[in-house]
Parts: sequence; structure tokens; C-alpha cells
Amino acid sequence: MRILILNGSPRPKGNTKRMIGAFCEGLEKAGHEWDVTDVCRLNIRGCLACEYCHGKGNGQCVQKDDMQNVYHLLQKADMLVIASPIYYHGLTGQLKCCIDRFYAMLYPKKPMKLTRVAMLLVSGDPDMYEGALFSYKGDYLDYLGLEDMGVITAQAYAPGLSEAKLEEIRMFGASL
Ligand SMILES: Cc1cc2nc3c(=O)[nH]c(=O)nc-3n(C[C@H](O)[C@H](O)[C@H](O)COP(=O)(O)O)c2cc1C
Repeated sequence: MRILILNGSPRPKGNTKRMIGAFCEGLEKAGHEWDVTDVCRLNIRGCLACEYCHGKGNGQCVQKDDMQNVYHLLQKADMLVIASPIYYHGLTGQLKCCIDRFYAMLYPKKPMKLTRVAMLLVSGDPDMYEGALFSYKGDYLDYLGLEDMGVITAQAYAPGLSEAKLEEIRMFGASL
């Protein structure tokens, strides 16, 4: 299986990055292939709602920025992993801009290969996931009809997750 991991954290050595590292160790054990896209390092502008993609563009976005690379990776992926810190009860703004731009690629149909989704979340306070889970269910499971492969949450403000949490994430990756 080919997996696209979208990293919404701007911290290069932060908790999300560590979760992704452990997850990829598990994926390697299971023999999967993956791409990690550090969304905050890219130039991805917000959706203009110009509707070009749903008309003349026939699924192509009018904005030619780094989102073009993400579209390419999404076409190849069997599974999508949304990895993000919680910022004000949701995903980071940079990741939200990227996800809003899926709008183009979903027209006229979602990428054929993409059938599964999972999420890795970290928040400073416990139980801060309701906003992210609401969109996970509404957008990816219900609207896109992707299969729910699971959600892993962790709690930490400063970078530093327990070895037990990292092992849980490794095992999750290996179980796919
Ligand atoms: C702008 C901003 C907003 C945040 N909002 C929340 C929040 O609403 N709830 C929460 O529990 N933590 C919040 N946090 C804390 C982060 O989720 C937490 O520090 C997380 O570990 C950061 O992940 P990272 O190391 O991968 O960047 C916020 C942090 C920042 C910088």
C-alpha cells in the first residue's frame, strides 16, 4: 500500500513529527511505501472559491503553487494520513488550506486508488480532539467514503512523547 502523510506541524522536531517517525517505522516493518509532506514548508495558498476547477479546469486548480505536488501524491496514494497538532480545537491553518484545496481534485471524482484514511493528533491539553474528529467523520468517512483505519491522539505541549505512546503508534503503522 502507498500512504501519503500530510504533516500539519511547523515544528521540525515537534510531537507530530515524532509521531510520524514512529508511524513510518511501523509502516516499514509492514512493507508499505509512503511519502511525508511537510505542509508548513510548502507554499500552499487558500482556496479562492473561483470554481475554475469545477468548470473549465475540469479538476485542475487555477493556482499553480506547491499544491500541485500534493495533487500528484494524492493520485498515487491508497491511504491518506492527516497528522497535526491541535490549534484552537482544529487542525493547523496551513493544513486546512491544503485540505480545502482538495476541492479541485475531487472533481469530477475522487482519486480512484484512495480508499483509506487515518489521523494522528497531538494537543497540549487532553481531550481536545472533538473539532478534528468532527471533520474527520464528516469529510473523510461520510463525504469521501474512505475506510476509517483509526485515529491516534497524544497529549504534550513541549516536544516529548512517552516511549509507550511512540510504541503504540509504531504498532499502529505495522498493523496496516
Ligand atoms: C497557535 C497554537 C494553538 C494551539 N491551540 C491548542 C488548543 O486549542 N488546544 C490544545 O490542547 N493545545 C493547543 N496548542 C498546543 C499544541 O497542540 C501542542 O503544543 C502540540 O504538542 C504541538 O505539536 P507539534 O510539537 O507537533 O507542533 C496550540 C499551540 C499553538 C502554537
